[in-house]
Amino acid sequence: MMKRPRRLRNNELIRKMVRETRVDKASLIYPMFIRDGAGIREELPSMPGQFRCSVDRMCYELQKVSDAGVSAVMFFGVPDDKDEAASQAYAEGGVVQRALKEAKKRFPELYYITDVCLCEYTSHGHCGMLCGHEVDNDETVRILAKTALSHAQAGADMVAPSDMMDGRVAAIREILDKNAYINVPIMSYAVKYASGFYEPFRDAAKSAPSFGDRKSYQMDYHNSREGIREVLLDEEEGADIIMVKPALSYLDMITKVKEITSLPVAAYSVSGEYAMIKAAAQKGWINEAKIVCETAVAAFRAGAQSYLTYYAKELAGYIDEGRIG
Ligand code: PBG
Repeated sequence: MMKRPRRLRNNELIRKMVRETRVDKASLIYPMFIRDGAGIREELPSMPGQFRCSVDRMCYELQKVSDAGVSAVMFFGVPDDKDEAASQAYAEGGVVQRALKEAKKRFPELYYITDVCLCEYTSHGHCGMLCGHEVDNDETVRILAKTALSHAQAGADMVAPSDMMDGRVAAIREILDKNAYINVPIMSYAVKYASGFYEPFRDAAKSAPSFGDRKSYQMDYHNSREGIREVLLDEEEGADIIMVKPALSYLDMITKVKEITSLPVAAYSVSGEYAMIKAAAQKGWINEAKIVCETAVAAFRAGAQSYLTYYAKELAGYIDEGRIG
């Protein structure tokens, strides 16, 4: 036999030498839930091992992130007061704004990304301003831009709109530039599907819509060309990084997006992906570390350059141990 692929799988050294996908801790982004109040660190029932912390307790989590060698976090705010206008989203004393100021002071070595959306701040849980039972796109975009600016003013290194309204990237770019935040990049959740995998997140952020669903703004999971259209629009509007979300069920999209844009591509392994792995592992049905490594490498192999995951600290450890890399 002339051709024996097994020759290159013969031992760990040769396997690693010819490895096609390499992973690096610098690609990881850890999502965190920050809530109002003080002295609070509560474990999330549908995401065991993940916590919702008040700003004072957040530092304990950031210390662990920093110790693990993860260099970037993404903040989600969970305010006590939610209203129709989402006023806590852009309040100077809002939870994310306070968290940024404190975190930048205590852990200046980390990179801070903020999720820009309104569902955590509205009393009805939709990602925008309502007009009757409809989400008003253009009014929402105005509030999102205001929110992104307030994050930049509080010290955000990057903003990440996840609302899926039309034209929001352009509006955010414009307001940031007008206010001299020309160097704050926008990571657009461009290819974001209306997904059942967000359910644990909605418990964590207390952001489930009180009526209807998000299908009039998030994408239909039967479609892939629609995702390409979203990417091209966001690129035109000035996005710096394109995100595909969720990750595991949308690896095809990561690959396609990578082919049509020269922007970096990020993949978000969302709350439901975390919860599924965690639950099966707790039952002893799978080996958690193996599945976490395999699913992460799959996203990178598909084409992701950055990876948002609730397993970021553990993954960093697996990389250090040489399980993957
Ligand atoms: C806000 C937002 C959501 C997620 C990220 N930003 C929830 C949603 O769209 O309902 C989901 C993240 C996760 O499930 O881990 N719009």
